Amino acid sequence: MSEQLEPVGVIGVGWVGLVTAACFAELGHQVIARDIVPEKVEALSRGEITIHEPGLEELLQRNAERIAFTTEMDELLAGARLLFVCVDTPPTYSGDADLSRVRAVVEELREDGDHVLIMKSTVPAGTGESIRRDKPNLSYVSCPEFLKEGTAVKDFMHPDRVVIGADPGDEGAAEAVEALYKPLGGEILRADVASAEMIKLASNAFLATKISFINEIANVCEEVGADVGQVAEGMGLDERIGPKFLKAGIGWGGSCFGKDTIALKKLAGNSGYHFQLLSAVIDVNELQKRRVVQKLKKHLDSLAGRRVALLGLAFKPDTDDMRDAASLVLAARLEGEGAEVVAYDPVAAERAATLLDSVEMATSAMEALEGADAAVLVTEWPEFAELDWVAAAERMARPVLVDGRNFLDPQKLVKAGFEYEGIGRTALDAPRTASAS
Ligand code: UDX
Repeated sequence: MSEQLEPVGVIGVGWVGLVTAACFAELGHQVIARDIVPEKVEALSRGEITIHEPGLEELLQRNAERIAFTTEMDELLAGARLLFVCVDTPPTYSGDADLSRVRAVVEELREDGDHVLIMKSTVPAGTGESIRRDKPNLSYVSCPEFLKEGTAVKDFMHPDRVVIGADPGDEGAAEAVEALYKPLGGEILRADVASAEMIKLASNAFLATKISFINEIANVCEEVGADVGQVAEGMGLDERIGPKFLKAGIGWGGSCFGKDTIALKKLAGNSGYHFQLLSAVIDVNELQKRRVVQKLKKHLDSLAGRRVALLGLAFKPDTDDMRDAASLVLAARLEGEGAEVVAYDPVAAERAATLLDSVEMATSAMEALEGADAAVLVTEWPEFAELDWVAAAERMARPVLVDGRNFLDPQKLVKAGFEYEGIGRTALDAPRTASAS
């Protein structure tokens, strides 16, 4: 069966590229994946994977015979016609997306009328058009990724939707991409290239807006004595609103939301439009992390000389990704107030240690809490719900806890002896089960 399936090429084996390569191999395609970093290619060829993504390692192992890694573009071009570009597009100093890696890839591609460039990297609307101008004989399809870290394999295999953007002249290429995704069964939306590019940016900006919105509602709840969990549940029952992405906390992070909201704001600005709402969404997210300091000060007055434990460092559970993690800003703010910061994360500690060199890394949650004057739950790792909080309260110098993800049961914590602070909830509020993902 695998002989009949079209081989797939992947350019750039970062997180998106690796998941894409592994999943297409799982579907039975021969995959050839190219990266310019020789050490990465060597490690992957040996079966070593350097990112934490549930299910990915098993998939790569199971399909090792169907995936080849290489540094050579010629090998890739000889092995596959359909080429997924998965290189990163980090922000530049101006906040615009840095397209230098995308451009470098495009430069290497031949306009032989045979290969199809399928853009997975998140790029500003208009990028496809400018590549088409430079390389008129290259087939171009936009196919943005909507994978969430931690559930990326599942998201790939069971997509809500697959967006395929192509302009007139590239229908054949779009059909070929559609054929790749058809077996997955998600809705396939065909669009023009600029609209496909905007769908990706607008989707991430909307999700970020939803979170900043509920975080502002949470802040108002604190003023008026309401519980944001109940509010979100009530709002989410309205079909037009829906329950997802209404979980209040200390703000969003990760590789996409920060970069993409700023890139969209800049894209709008460069085109002469001031995207006011998005500016506020970004500001709210920045301030939300910093409110933790005020919450701690309510209990401890000054933070100078206090030992504060951060529980969780990754930007969300089930990943070791530290990009734009709230813990980075929080640790710096706490140290700025004169606090001594100790942290624990079950998966991201090693990666985090390279970014947070003044933070002491503990090897368990209990070790981090030992002698601490306060704790902040930053990432909702399941093991924190299982912790013996009675023992934790006894081990801390002062059992103050800011639950930055409204993850723990406030009543249980209070019973254990904690001074509890949530986000938009009081210690007396019952835990809510509002869906977050
Ligand atoms: C996101 C998009 O969801 C995905 O479609 C896109 O392709 C890449 O960016 P990801 O960054 O992996 O995925 O994580 P996501 O699950 O979306 O969470 C982003 C951040 O929002 C996390 O920091 C999370 O803690 C926070 N969040 C999420 C909330 O604070 N509240 C919520 O209700 C949901």
